Amino acid sequence: MKRILVTGAAGQIGRELVPALRDRYGSQEVIAAGHSTPLPDTMKEAGPHTVVDVTNPLQIKDAIEKYEIDTVYHMSTILSALAENKRQRAHAVNITGLCNILEAAHLSGVEKVMVPSSIAAFGPETPRDLTPNDTIQRPNTLYGISKVFGELLGNYYSLRLGLDVRGLRLPGIINCMDYEPTAGTTDYAVLIFFSALRESRYSCYLRPDTRLPMMYMPDAIRAIIELSETSIDRLTHRADFNVSAMSFTPAELADAIQERIPDFKIKYEIDPLRQSIADTWPQVLDDTVARDEWGWKPDYDMDAMVDDMLVQMREKLGMSG
Ligand code: SER
Repeated sequence: MKRILVTGAAGQIGRELVPALRDRYGSQEVIAAGHSTPLPDTMKEAGPHTVVDVTNPLQIKDAIEKYEIDTVYHMSTILSALAENKRQRAHAVNITGLCNILEAAHLSGVEKVMVPSSIAAFGPETPRDLTPNDTIQRPNTLYGISKVFGELLGNYYSLRLGLDVRGLRLPGIINCMDYEPTAGTTDYAVLIFFSALRESRYSCYLRPDTRLPMMYMPDAIRAIIELSETSIDRLTHRADFNVSAMSFTPAELADAIQERIPDFKIKYEIDPLRQSIADTWPQVLDDTVARDEWGWKPDYDMDAMVDDMLVQMREKLGMSG
């Protein structure tokens, strides 16, 4: 039997990953663990749930033992923009929290830990166009530093200690649920849809020409699950796979929305912090390694994502087509 613990279950990805895992492996087999952000009621009603503060090693150990966990999806993290303002908290969650999870998993006989990395694991010296999987990283944000640490520590536990740790460098994730992310640098690509549908206008905090890699949530969930299910013999890399789906600028996304909502207007009020973070990230990722090692292939490009987002969001916001 496969028993799964998902930390950060109330976060941007966690709240869509938990239902997807429950559909796949059974509701009772997936334990949703939250801490500072309350878990959605629907998630609590649909299956087991608990509280895990990842900075507390005892709480992690208790949850792993109580629920007889063999796989952990460790989604708790403080995202890029918030981490710059909450450095101590970001250290505690992103670095100490990850150490606690991997050590508890190793000591308790857990088989597999999925640890997402990010495009933030790259920095200003990284080639930004078609960024290779294996290249110079040297990020200059706290979030990015914690992600490089996570990749290296994941590889260490995998290769030295035999714990199966795997991870993807996720691009900006575009979610279509009624959840408005605020802690990241790529969040504009979600918030623009809420504003476009509610007010037909959006004020963007990144410059119009800021190109970043992005991915629609259904592809992200599928990527995480597909990597977790790949036979270990096929993998040379472990916790550090580039995955790509689309790359666009705010101006290009605004044009795509305007084609579908003609009175939509965008203006720009640059946030220097988030702009300075975005300016050090890749523009387009080369994900050949993920394609070769475990067959990664995205379903959604920008146009397919925009079409689907508008349908889904109109439904969530109770607006007719
Ligand atoms: N979406 C994340 C952020 O913007 C990147 O991993 O912080």
